[in-house]
Amino acid sequence: MRMPYPWGLVELKGLVLAGGEGTRLRPFTLSAPKHLIPLLGKAMIEYPIQHLVEAGIRDIGIVVGYLGHLIEEYLGDGSRCGARLTYVRQERRLGIAHAIHLAIESSFLDRPFVVYLGDNILAHGIESVVKRFQEEQPDVYIMLCRVRDTSRFGVAVLRDGRVVKLVEKPKEPISDLAVIGIYFFRDPDLVKKAFSTLKPSWRGEYEITELIQWFIDHGYKVMYDVVTGWWKDVGTPEGLLEAMYLLLDEASPRIEGDVRGEVLGRVIVEKGAVVEGRVYGPAYIGRDVVVGKRAVIEHYVSAERGTKIVSGSLTRSLILNDAEIDLNRLRLVDSVIGRYSVIRCSKEIHGEIKLAVSDYSRVEL
Ligand code: G1P
Repeated sequence: MRMPYPWGLVELKGLVLAGGEGTRLRPFTLSAPKHLIPLLGKAMIEYPIQHLVEAGIRDIGIVVGYLGHLIEEYLGDGSRCGARLTYVRQERRLGIAHAIHLAIESSFLDRPFVVYLGDNILAHGIESVVKRFQEEQPDVYIMLCRVRDTSRFGVAVLRDGRVVKLVEKPKEPISDLAVIGIYFFRDPDLVKKAFSTLKPSWRGEYEITELIQWFIDHGYKVMYDVVTGWWKDVGTPEGLLEAMYLLLDEASPRIEGDVRGEVLGRVIVEKGAVVEGRVYGPAYIGRDVVVGKRAVIEHYVSAERGTKIVSGSLTRSLILNDAEIDLNRLRLVDSVIGRYSVIRCSKEIHGEIKLAVSDYSRVEL
């Protein structure tokens, strides 16, 4: 029989990991960490923070590394998000388990906690999971999601309703259950003990799956849930677009800007935006965006704050802050355009283009 919490049912602490370099998201991550890439007006990292705050968790540590000062500048003390933020610096990228260990060593994690990877977005937040963790008091609580290709994830093998094995990025398919990037732990001292037994893996990281395996092997209570809504780990430009589609599918329409043209379907038009052309939903038109008379936003487009869509058609694309698109008769599809970039076509060319353009670039056709 496990002892009840020595600390009673206290509010959990949260830890959001945002130290990674996001190499698979280059060129967008050359000038800013991926966690600051906006999706529907909010930086990616604000989704995990919002989910923690909604679940009543306000003391949140942010592990930063690569271009971490930009994350600190952006989030500040967290009051804008309703959180109290503490920054933990991870100088070397040695993995998730290592980041958690650093936060314990720095004394930030001194009671039960939940770790949320800063590039994971879970459709319906974590309120119900936090409740279950508090009620049932397992030592570790993980969430699983059925995926087609498990080779990119940690996966869980279940037997008789229990997790018996976790494997990081298995070469052979051993299960279709990926371990998503949200992990609950009850006792920081036990996590410390488990960490002391780990060695870096083939990719040079202290793996979270191996840390949790220690709890399984030592007979601790490791609980799981299989998520029913969507979950997205945003690691690539395609993943970024997919996350945007999913968020747009759930967004409630709202018009706060000035619509002089036409808006149809599920569309958000933020304050300060001016729409003179046509916008077909689902679409997001951010603050101070201009959609010109000769522009058509078709479907699944997010034009982030300050972008100018002068002309052309846009479909399934993410336009980052302050970019300018002036494509005449061209149609932009499946594209991500970086901050402050200018994409211009002065000729009467018809057809489709697909672009992945980094921040501060110019493309003239
Ligand atoms: C990490 C974890 C992996 C987990 C995944 C979820 O992978 O190591 O177990 O399934 O996050 O996003 P990484 O993003 O480091 O490849």
